[in-house]
Amino acid sequence: MRILITAGGTREYIDPVRFISNASSGRMGYALARAAQKAGHKVTLISASDLQPPVGVDFVGVDSAAQMFEAVKKFFAKCDCLIMAAAVSDYTPARPTKTKIKRTDRPLTIKLKPTADILKWAGKHKTRARGTRHGARIVVGFALEDKTLRKQAEQKLKEKNLDMIIANTPAAIGAVKSTVHIKTAHSGWTKIENATKTTIAKKIIATIEKTFH
Ligand code: CTP
Repeated sequence: MRILITAGGTREYIDPVRFISNASSGRMGYALARAAQKAGHKVTLISASDLQPPVGVDFVGVDSAAQMFEAVKKFFAKCDCLIMAAAVSDYTPARPTKTKIKRTDRPLTIKLKPTADILKWAGKHKTRARGTRHGARIVVGFALEDKTLRKQAEQKLKEKNLDMIIANTPAAIGAVKSTVHIKTAHSGWTKIENATKTTIAKKIIATIEKTFH
């Protein structure tokens, strides 16, 4: 399969030197890229992380949610499966300044505007043109939830027209080990408890192969 994977937390610039981001390390996305590559798939990794590109993987570096969206749109047409492991910022500064914001004694308010939901876009556009050899693309998302984890993740699976969702809690962000809950559109939940991201990634790739290939 040709697998497109996103990783890392996007950076939304306020001015040329300051940005809003999140605590994502990119480890989950990179572990998925390595696991998919080792399993014999052709992998493109779109990364907003500072981690070194894995060997044997096509690498595209991005900063912002907007750049990640452009890159996904560019490579989505040529992939069989998209895994959105990136922690994409939901908001971006409405008017980033071209020059560094000067300090004053007054409070500073930064207006944010919503970014595009990349995963939702992919779910909407996963059907291939009629007459092509392959079926629809497989679209896999993550869900980060504080509470009612499975219920909210299941809602995202349906609303975004996904084939599979991996749910976890904020404790997973940046952590070495984590607990995840996996569900495909037509199966029940599976829990992987306190495992390394390498182990989790291998299981996710194996589930994708078993379910859809
Ligand atoms: N995602 C995306 N584009 C965004 C925000 C998120 O593609 N602008 C993707 C993430 O990569 C992840 C999934 O959507 O695979 C779910 O992200 P999450 O932060 O859990 O949920 P949101 O859809 O952003 O909703 P909320 O923050 O309200 O829970």
